[in-house]
Amino acid sequence: MKIDYQEPSKDLLMRIDIHEKYGSANIDVWTNELLRPQAGMNILDVGCGAGKLSFLFNDYVKGKATITGGDFSEELLEKAREKNRKVGANIDFQFLDFNKPFNFPDNTFDLCTSAFAIYYASDLDFTFGEAHRVLKSGGRLFVSGPLPENKQMFYDIIREATHAEIPPMPGSSRFKGDIYNTIDKIFAKTELHKFENHLTFPDVAPFIDYVRASLGEDRKLWTSMFNGKDEYEALIGKIETVAKKWLDRDGKLVMTKVVGGILATK
Ligand SMILES: C[S@@+](CC[C@H](N)C(=O)[O-])C[C@H]1O[C@@H](n2cnc3c(N)ncnc32)[C@H](O)[C@@H]1O
Repeated sequence: MKIDYQEPSKDLLMRIDIHEKYGSANIDVWTNELLRPQAGMNILDVGCGAGKLSFLFNDYVKGKATITGGDFSEELLEKAREKNRKVGANIDFQFLDFNKPFNFPDNTFDLCTSAFAIYYASDLDFTFGEAHRVLKSGGRLFVSGPLPENKQMFYDIIREATHAEIPPMPGSSRFKGDIYNTIDKIFAKTELHKFENHLTFPDVAPFIDYVRASLGEDRKLWTSMFNGKDEYEALIGKIETVAKKWLDRDGKLVMTKVVGGILATK
């Protein structure tokens, strides 16, 4: 399956900021407690984006692990490198397309992670085969992504506003099924963990910021819902009207992120 996907960095950073401002739980704490990365480890973060997970691990081990972040977006890699310089970290951010062979020898890494990214892979057997190949024996793979019940309220509001089918989201539709099964087939041991984060919006504006950062015109997943800028703005207007109605009725808007973490051992 070929998935046409592009993530503008401003949208990704906006969503991360909203999770931090309005969320009830911290996914970083959950990730670190689950993985407990150690000093001396060799870590690869696939689809690292602006480096969120790479910096998280680097802070956790106080700079004492070897960390590589790989992504195919030069724009996001540049953001990551900029932060690397700013905070004086020594993470290696480099080009990596997870649909192509990973540019590392067999048995290199203790931990290979991928947050909200690798499930966009075209050929899951190939990509997770590569992750398995570059991991040492006993090394761990961690993949996080949305579970099917993720952001129910977000989709319900859009459905009510548009009366249209929500386009299939490769993350949530594939995560618990194809992705879990592929990893389970390739790795010796596989577990599924769950993280819930209730985002409480006191007002419509930050919710609409979140909607825009998810549906942005250049995020190709959603383009079946609008054609061009005017239709996009009309759609946002309809979503805003329904969100206002829900806010008046309930006093707040609560959207629950339900994230799965697949943790596998080679
Ligand atoms: C939702 S972002 C997550 C970024 C980061 N892991 C985080 O948690 O902030 C998805 C990332 O997957 C990357 N990506 C998508 N397809 C890719 C591919 N074929 N190879 C490498 N990276 C890819 C995007 O560029 C983007 O950085």
